Amino acid sequence: MKSIMSPLDLSTAELDELMDTAEDIMANPAKYAHACDGRLLATLFYEPSTRTRLSFEAAMLRLGGKTLGFHSSDSSSATKGETVADTIRVVSSFADICAMRHPKEGAPMVAAAVSQIPVINAGDGGHQHPTQTLTDLMTIRALKGHLDNLTIGMCGDLMFGRTVHSLIRALIRYENVKFVFISPKELMLPSYIRDDLLTQNNIAFREVSRLEDVLPSLDILYMTRVQRERFFNEEDYVRLKDFYILDKKKMQLASPDMLVLHPLPRVNEISTEIDDDPRSVYFKQVRYGMFIRMALILKLLEIKVD
Ligand code: NCD
Repeated sequence: MKSIMSPLDLSTAELDELMDTAEDIMANPAKYAHACDGRLLATLFYEPSTRTRLSFEAAMLRLGGKTLGFHSSDSSSATKGETVADTIRVVSSFADICAMRHPKEGAPMVAAAVSQIPVINAGDGGHQHPTQTLTDLMTIRALKGHLDNLTIGMCGDLMFGRTVHSLIRALIRYENVKFVFISPKELMLPSYIRDDLLTQNNIAFREVSRLEDVLPSLDILYMTRVQRERFFNEEDYVRLKDFYILDKKKMQLASPDMLVLHPLPRVNEISTEIDDDPRSVYFKQVRYGMFIRMALILKLLEIKVD
């Protein structure tokens, strides 16, 4: 029984297999429609989410399984003081697999250590978000055709954004990937990523604060929102939230092949005026996310479909 806490829990070969399965599901949904008949997925969300939770639920329902769960800590026994470890022991008797989101870094690992069923980390604080990373990798592979030889810009809240932290870990395993990190000074990458991961592994990267200067050089631009809920004071958030706004004028500077990704929800950082630009793929990305979660559920439940 395997749990997924970080994208590194899967080898690049396993990632490729998952993406192949996800593409097969997209092409032949009927073949998979009953693959999880009689199975239950629990969604344990201690922190708000629309996309990720619905994506997991849609994934399980489309495989013929069912779902149960809670979507805020207020509606769980956490309010009575129950620990995550006890909650997962209980849920292990009801469900076959679970997805957990928690505001505290490491909470899903605590759960996985005592769980009888596979646990998928659906986002833990500012730490990791492996299924978003699978979504991002699949989007890039499907639309660019490869994951190596890319210059990837990551823009916005690089300090608190867990999607960025997870995606960097996954991407450094591919050949000749270069990063450009675009953020205000206050929201630069934490040193445990910059120094301990990138510098230590001799990965090429630059840190800049102006998006315009680097746009022409990018193959991928990964935009993120400023993570309001992880700020200590509202004033700092208000000062930084509109630092970057990707609009038509800026998109003119970018290559005709650049892709714009965003894990969503978007706030102001991408103007709706570029939603129709063929390079804006963030809504396609959401759809890939559901299919890759279907593939992951099948893998963790060890279900094979011929
Ligand atoms: C992201 C998250 O929760 O970290 N959203 C998501 O899962 N699609 C990004 C965000 O909240 O900014």
